[in-house]
Amino acid sequence: MSTMLQTEDLRYAYPGEEGAETVALDGVTLSIERGSFVVVLGHNGSGKSTLAKTFNAVLLPSGGKVYVDGMDTGDEALLLEIRRRVGMVFQNPDNQIVANVVEEDVAFAPENLGVPTEEIRRRVDDALAAVGMADFTLYAPHLLSGGQKQRIAIAGVLAMRPECIVLDEATAMLDPAGRREVLDAVERLHAEQGITVVLITHHMNEAERADRVLVMNDGRLAMDGAPREVFSRAEELAAMGLAVPDTVALLRRLRAGGMDVPTDAVTVDECVDAILREF
Ligand SMILES: Nc1ncnc2c1ncn2[C@@H]1O[C@H](COP(=O)(O)OP(=O)(O)OP(=O)(O)O)[C@@H](O)[C@H]1O
Ligand SMILES: [Mg+2]
Repeated sequence: MSTMLQTEDLRYAYPGEEGAETVALDGVTLSIERGSFVVVLGHNGSGKSTLAKTFNAVLLPSGGKVYVDGMDTGDEALLLEIRRRVGMVFQNPDNQIVANVVEEDVAFAPENLGVPTEEIRRRVDDALAAVGMADFTLYAPHLLSGGQKQRIAIAGVLAMRPECIVLDEATAMLDPAGRREVLDAVERLHAEQGITVVLITHHMNEAERADRVLVMNDGRLAMDGAPREVFSRAEELAAMGLAVPDTVALLRRLRAGGMDVPTDAVTVDECVDAILREF
């Protein structure tokens, strides 16, 4: 597998008043393989959004390097190519809608890139189908539910034919049904189209399907591993203000109560299996 995103000793500081600065990223070195599904966790202010913004050159490093598909984000000549490759979806669906009709909204970015008309039609149809919104082509986006709006936002990103999608708490404002719709759409894109996914979230349970979990703490990369490895370090996570998923929490309680269950079963199915094995 090749590397999609790579950072080397990445540092980012927001400038403040009178030369003061806030160091948001403090020496982050990581690499994300093409086609992987990576979840980023971390307490408020740990640097997750700042990290995400360096991935498509919205923010440029104050120190160190970021490479997208081998391209240095500091190279201005590569900026368009980098932004085309890495699509971002943010928290508030209403801030991401730019047109009054769904298909126009999804067509917005490729139109700006000068993609030919028939090609745009194809991309818009493909993108809406990929997120399960093909029946809403002519709807007014503002009349849709939050989950539907976020899927339109994802379709808008897909219309750029990105290789990587970064979702920064894209489910945070949604109800459970909307959250599920969006996660299902993202999982399908990953499974069927091999798109690299970087999912930033506060919901531990969203991490269960990740290939890898990165934990940010105070501007640094504190943990980096498979979900079951990361969530087996419950005490360290708690010290960083993070909980484990409900599945792991349940298994830990059963174990504390004397049941001989493993505590590293993260998905609901694994958790159920682990408990049933005790009977
Ligand atoms: N525009 C800004 N100007 C100054 N400081 C900022 C700015 N944006 C973020 N920061 C600071 O940078 C640090 C990292 O913030 P960041 O938004 O990357 O964290 P986060 O992990 O995404 O947090 P959250 O979970 O609240 O979204 C914090 O100390 C934050 O206060
Ligand atoms: Mg954030």
